[in-house]
Amino acid sequence: MSEPIVFSNAVIVTAEHQFRGYVVIHQGRIVEIGEGRAPEVGVDFGGDFLLPGLVELHTDHLEVHFMPRPKVEWPAVSAVLAHDAQVIGAGITTVFDALRVGNDYDDEKFGARMKKLAEAIAAAKGQALTRAEHFVHLRCEISCADVVEEMQPFLTDPQLKLVSVMDHTPGQRQFTDVLKWKTYYAGKRGATEAEMNERINRRRAIHAQFADANRRAIVDLCQSHGVTLASHDDATLEHVEEAVADGMHIAEFPTTVEAAAASHEAGLKVLMGAPNVVRGGSHSGNVSARALAEEGVLDVLSSDYVPTSLLMGAFALADVAAMGGLPGAIRLVSKNPADAAGLTDRGEIALGKRADLIRVDAASGQPVLRAAWREGRRVS
Ligand SMILES: [Fe+2]
Repeated sequence: MSEPIVFSNAVIVTAEHQFRGYVVIHQGRIVEIGEGRAPEVGVDFGGDFLLPGLVELHTDHLEVHFMPRPKVEWPAVSAVLAHDAQVIGAGITTVFDALRVGNDYDDEKFGARMKKLAEAIAAAKGQALTRAEHFVHLRCEISCADVVEEMQPFLTDPQLKLVSVMDHTPGQRQFTDVLKWKTYYAGKRGATEAEMNERINRRRAIHAQFADANRRAIVDLCQSHGVTLASHDDATLEHVEEAVADGMHIAEFPTTVEAAAASHEAGLKVLMGAPNVVRGGSHSGNVSARALAEEGVLDVLSSDYVPTSLLMGAFALADVAAMGGLPGAIRLVSKNPADAAGLTDRGEIALGKRADLIRVDAASGQPVLRAAWREGRRVS
């Protein structure tokens, strides 16, 4: 670490430009950026891309490693490391692991399980076992009796940097069309039509009783603890006005062009799923991320449920006129999410920024991660 490292012969993508050149890193930071031939060869990239390490604000993927089969709990630190390997292999050097509290379907509690995961993340970080830098994104379902009680123990965890406020009640937001709710949960849960109808009535009653007060309480708690807030599945202008009034910084997965445009206009960072870009549309039939990119109102991509989708999604959007080429598309997965989460030391190739960098080979048409460095240390 004491000697500078030169990355030469690379296609460098900064926040604004793309050019053939070199980057020098020293003591974990970027100290020199140049066009053309490097002062020495160092690590020869052979024309591969040198990009900022990706910043991921919302991945559900840790839970998959923790519960690899229904009712099977894998040792939590091992689950964190399996997740971490997949994340760094996808070029993500900063990751917000989404943990959920508040149940959107039945009365099962998640809080204790999620706390165990948060503690495992801290333990893995504490022993320098993780390769990406991990933070916690707590997802709070407000149509639920006990969500405030379940989320409170996380507020004093220094890893908690982001809280999103969700409402998946049938008839609301993501599920404005109740049929979509039925299809989504019937597929997931295998319930009968009669059971689904009864469940819908129950979810609506819970929403009426708890949602408003829970939202208020969670917003107030996050503001008093200095935690960044995100709204989730905003569908209408009223939702956006509410998010603005609540001081939110990020609009996750708005479901309509109207809500996305109003959020972007109001200064919220509009976040959409990269799988939506890769698959060519939303899995629940709402607005496509590409459509929002074309409108110029998309700010952040998130890998959501497939880590490798982040790099794929950014490259796939580079041809959208409003993006301004690959630098604009890469901003969606680096500088913009870093800024939205208040991480000003990273997210772009610029002098003085953290040397969180990735080498990507896109010659086959599919972007492939070849190497990753975090604060100048090779981690993949
Ligand atoms: Fe949602």
